[in-house]
Amino acid sequence: MNLIDRDPLLLTPGPLTTTLRTRQAMLHDHGSWDSAFNRITGEICRQLVEIVHGAQTHVCVPLQGSGTFAVEAALGTLVPRDGKVLVPNHGAYCARILRILGVIGRASVELPFAEDQAMDPAAIGAMLAADPSITHVALVHCETGTGILNPLEDIARVVAAHGRALIVDAMSSFGALPIDARRLPFDALVAASGKCLEGVPGMGFVIARRSALELSAGRCHSLAMDLHDQWTYLQRTTQWRFTPPTHVVAALAEALAQFDAEGGQAARGLRYAANRRALVQGMAGLGLRPLLDESVQSPIIVTFLAPAHPAWDFRAFYDGVRARGFILYPGKLTQVETFRVGCIGAITPTDIDQVVHAVGDTLRQLGLPHSA
Ligand SMILES: Cc1ncc(COP(=O)(O)O)c(C=O)c1O
Repeated sequence: MNLIDRDPLLLTPGPLTTTLRTRQAMLHDHGSWDSAFNRITGEICRQLVEIVHGAQTHVCVPLQGSGTFAVEAALGTLVPRDGKVLVPNHGAYCARILRILGVIGRASVELPFAEDQAMDPAAIGAMLAADPSITHVALVHCETGTGILNPLEDIARVVAAHGRALIVDAMSSFGALPIDARRLPFDALVAASGKCLEGVPGMGFVIARRSALELSAGRCHSLAMDLHDQWTYLQRTTQWRFTPPTHVVAALAEALAQFDAEGGQAARGLRYAANRRALVQGMAGLGLRPLLDESVQSPIIVTFLAPAHPAWDFRAFYDGVRARGFILYPGKLTQVETFRVGCIGAITPTDIDQVVHAVGDTLRQLGLPHSA
């Protein structure tokens, strides 16, 4: 018998632990033609643009599906078929952008960085100066594969100075880290319902520069991924093109009300930063060290080096922590053995203290060295 009569807390990059209120919002059925539902969609889009202060310049286009669908839609809609995209790469989600570009037939050029180093704006600038055929830069803000944070503002300035367009995968940072469209030039910012906004997964969205979106009619390789088509249909009818994820939308509306009540992006960022501090301190007490230097570590997710011990087995570790009520995440690195612990979702430093306790308990059970 399992005595823990609650869902395990998710210490992962998404899906995340959500509040009861958010989950309860999914107890209703909505019709996709119904004006009450369409008002919810309109209000969500307005709020999402407001989070990045983009009302003067940008619009929100929601899209059914997980985050990757929205990334692919942004690239396929905004990059012309004869465009060329520079992709700085230091991790799994950067590599995914390169893969998408290959699949949808857009030219790309990779700029590799070490997986524990932030991207260097000067190197990006040098590449843009050397290759005038590059039309866009596609960037991951927080590379969730490691938890590393990139200097988005500095990079955006360099890209704009070279007259190129910027597409940002802000999947794991949107809502938690400051992004201000009034001083940070971007053509598209991509995120999703089930990350730092603490909704449930199932809907992506793109905050697109209105003027760039207007120019993109007929460009997309795909009907379902065509953000221009989705946007114009929404404007004309207030409805989603094709069946909307109604329950996900309702949950996001409730999650956004709680986001506002908490104090918006600034408050959410502070809570996640407090989670990260509690996590790193607690794990240090067990002898577990993060992969990244603190200067590049985001408050989103922390990659820990696995204990260098023959008894280490991620699966057994995962199962032990799971049995104590917490779900961790495997590492995503190729070179070093790691595991990841997320700091995002409806969790607080008090929950993190319990995670650390569960990790210490599990290490003891597995006969692994630990300091506490
Ligand atoms: C930075 C980043 N990009 C893209 C994705 C892909 O999102 P999904 O798995 O929802 O398709 C994720 C998911 O965690 C992410 O963290």
